[in-house]
Amino acid sequence: MDILLPMSALIFFLFLFPISKRLLQNRKNLPPSPSFLTLLGHLHLIKKPLHRSLTTLSNRYGPILSLRFGSRTVLLISSPSFAEDCFSNNDIIFANRPHLLSAKHFGYHYSTLMSASYGPLWRKLRRIATVEILSLNRIQMFSAVRIQEVRSLVKDLFRDSESGKSVVELKSRFSELTFNVMMGMIAGKRHYVGHAVALEDARQFREILSESSTLIGESNFGDFVPFLGWMDFGGVEKRMVRLARRNDEFLQVLVDEHRRKKKVDFSSSMEVEVQEEEEEKTFIDVLLSLQETEPEFYTDQIIKGMLSALLAAGTDTSALTTEWAMSLLLNHPDVLEKAKDELDMHVGPRLLDESDLSKLPYLHCIINETLRLYPVAPLLLPHESSEESIVGGFNVARGTMLLVNVWAIHRDPKLWVDPTDFKPERFQGPEETKEGLKLIPFGHGRRACPGASLAVRMVSLALGTLIQCFEWERLGEEKVDMTEGIGLTMHKAEPLKVVNKPRHTMLNVLSQL
Ligand code: HEM
Ligand SMILES: *[C@@H]1O[C@H](CO)[C@@H](O)[C@H](O)[C@H]1NC(C)=O
Repeated sequence: MDILLPMSALIFFLFLFPISKRLLQNRKNLPPSPSFLTLLGHLHLIKKPLHRSLTTLSNRYGPILSLRFGSRTVLLISSPSFAEDCFSNNDIIFANRPHLLSAKHFGYHYSTLMSASYGPLWRKLRRIATVEILSLNRIQMFSAVRIQEVRSLVKDLFRDSESGKSVVELKSRFSELTFNVMMGMIAGKRHYVGHAVALEDARQFREILSESSTLIGESNFGDFVPFLGWMDFGGVEKRMVRLARRNDEFLQVLVDEHRRKKKVDFSSSMEVEVQEEEEEKTFIDVLLSLQETEPEFYTDQIIKGMLSALLAAGTDTSALTTEWAMSLLLNHPDVLEKAKDELDMHVGPRLLDESDLSKLPYLHCIINETLRLYPVAPLLLPHESSEESIVGGFNVARGTMLLVNVWAIHRDPKLWVDPTDFKPERFQGPEETKEGLKLIPFGHGRRACPGASLAVRMVSLALGTLIQCFEWERLGEEKVDMTEGIGLTMHKAEPLKVVNKPRHTMLNVLSQL
């Protein structure tokens, strides 16, 4: 008790003791930095949502800044040319990931595709992921999974509207959709519905995913002020450990089920072989085969880490992008109308297929424009430098955490005409995306999102099919509230609710689903 008072006085003093920026801008030639406090660094300037707060800082002090988050040095980049310095010219140097608490617990101690630093482990994981599941070839092979899931969503919406329920909450529908698609590719639909994992478990797992995203997004002072981390401020770490354990248990069940099935297949008859042929080999099967040939590398933990990274990176992101796109369309009926015309003209009164997507440039412009205004990873993922480097002519120390404020770049009035307006037409011109890194919702370089083309397909197919099949209207007179909430991925604070009714021209098709 009696030690607490002097201690908090001391902490208080340390927190509030300011360091002038002059101290920093010495002959070391470091990027500019606003003045900061000894222990907190610039954390006292940071508010939520983080990308907005950091945009305020860069507007005031410049597009390349050196910040201190407690004990960590952060390089904040908010312009295409400095981003190019990091992701093209110094790509390998900035290809590490910082050891944040969330990556320790959700990233199997920094050993997953998403959480591992650059090196042999990461390169191997990245290669398997891109060849076995995210290559163009593989993506095309899984087209049926996406078509099936999108149609099942449309069918549900149609049934609801037939039975008089015309108001739908789309956020959870989209998250279910992308989760099912991912699971279909990873585990094979037959395995998780009513087999390995019951529907209820799937719902629970989606809950784990979204809770962990929120938890990671909650400002985690322990990452930046180790002293506070040691005290486990707010019990954040305890909650992470609990969630990570649930996550791990879910994945272990999934892996075990597949292993059992594989054994059964092996020892049983012809009948199974026939079944194997018609059913695509799932990603888990591929990983288990690799485990047989190279057991010391492909441990269960590596396999679970891979699944975990894909599910965490691929599910929420695509669902939220679809929700943002739909919200934008509801607020811009003229754009919605144009998209509908394009679909009617090129696809007609049958359901959209993935092979049609190349005939729908305007739909693609809508998606680009959505990703520009609402990049669901507004600061990408944090990188960390492995060596000293030069960015924009300034020296950057080894071990610096890199944040690229894509949100700020995407809305920079120096780069975009009417930057905050939703205008898909801007991408019809030849010039817009060509120059430099001004549109990078998936990042750039070695560590860029390996799922980008899958994501664009998934979102296009879902959005296109929904536009085709239904008339969409806002719930009331008011525009859809576009405020963003707080979390690792940028989501709408208010889940999107809309009114829909089937389009007359599609009634035939819909009733046959
Ligand atoms: C609209 C949807 C998506 C967006 C906006 C998005 C965006 C991003 C961004 C910004 C990064 C970090 C890049 C960096 O560190 O600089 C990333 C990483 C990653 N994404 Fe995506 N992503 C999406 C969908 C997907 C999908 C569908 C998958 C896979 C199924 C996926 C898998 C990954 C993985 C595995 C990483 C980590 C890569 C690494 O660290 O080496 N993403 N994504
Ligand atoms: C969308 O943006 C990407 C860059 O992220 C670009 O390659 C593509 O051409 C754009 N598509 C359209 C239709 O503007």
